[in-house]
Amino acid sequence: MKPRTPFVVNAIIAVGLITGAFYMFLQNFDFITSPIFLATIAISLVLLLINNSLGALIDAEKFRQLSEEQKKEYIELVKTPYLTRLWGDAFKQSKEETTGEVAILDHGFDGIKELDNLLPKWYVGLFAITIVYAVVYFVAYSATDFAHQIEEYDEEYKTQLAAIAEYDKIAPQATIETAEYNPDWVAEGEVIYNQTCKTCHGEGAQGLSGPNQTDDYWINIQDEYKSEAGEFKNIFYTVWNGSKNDATMRPFGAGGELRGNDIVKVSSYLYKLNQDTKKNADGSAPGKAPQGNLAPWSKSAAAPAASAAPAEAAVTAPEQGVDSTAAATTE
Ligand code: HEC
Repeated sequence: MKPRTPFVVNAIIAVGLITGAFYMFLQNFDFITSPIFLATIAISLVLLLINNSLGALIDAEKFRQLSEEQKKEYIELVKTPYLTRLWGDAFKQSKEETTGEVAILDHGFDGIKELDNLLPKWYVGLFAITIVYAVVYFVAYSATDFAHQIEEYDEEYKTQLAAIAEYDKIAPQATIETAEYNPDWVAEGEVIYNQTCKTCHGEGAQGLSGPNQTDDYWINIQDEYKSEAGEFKNIFYTVWNGSKNDATMRPFGAGGELRGNDIVKVSSYLYKLNQDTKKNADGSAPGKAPQGNLAPWSKSAAAPAASAAPAEAAVTAPEQGVDSTAAATTE
């Protein structure tokens, strides 16, 4: 027969568990003075007291039925302080450790014998706590106001957007000199395009009242960007300054409607879209019919830039030849 856990210990555990559960559901300690919390504690303590008295009665009856030797053993146990007993229990040695006798489970039917060691009590206790915690957590999470994933996400999202807006205010803005194609900005560029440009340039920039941007024909080609690599800067230039021929294409940058980095974004989108579009042999593309002239950066057969390619090849070829002969002689 084992001595009962003292009432005080049970009371401390009960108050701890109830407080923990309240905290989990409410996420603050304001409930400490609430009548519901205090009533829960009071009722639990009363129930524990009743349980304790019943236990005492049962123990007295059990004690009467013990043999003299068992009674002595029990009295000895009761004398040791509770925590010492608890400690001893938690780390109680296995039968094998105390008696040297190996505990064996015999399955019988299959002849397999298995070691039968008890798990340490502290370990089993931890297991029990995780089960209780899981149940409380599951209920709190799925049936109460405990977790707010979506609201928390929205909050976080807003903070991030505000931080980006804040950064954008002080971030250096691109100019025609510094503007460069940036593949990371294509997606944002598409958003700007759909908000600001689609009404005139159409779905996927295939042209509407404004020209098709996916073909190799351009109305506005600035002299300084008449090269194979000029396409991106030329787009940036037109979006910044607008078109000199047609005022409906207004100066988005110079007019203060879009800032430099936004123009880099939308230009990156248009550039990538143009690069990715498979053009017909004559440089036209699906959508509105071509307007303007075939651009220097066009890769279609009739492109004037094609003449530059052989010259370049001729320059590099001899160099390679020198390299390989030099390598041959040193070997
Ligand atoms: C109100 C209508 C309208 C809006 C809005 C508009 N465009 Fe245009 N865009 C035009 C017209 C019209 C042209 C042709 C101008 C010309 O004939 O020189 C043009 C020309 C262009 C060109 C040069 C095309 C070429 O072939 O020379 C680019 C690049 C361009 N727009 C980009 C944009 C971008 C980017 C936006 C959004 C930020 C935008 N446009 C918004 C009407 C518009």
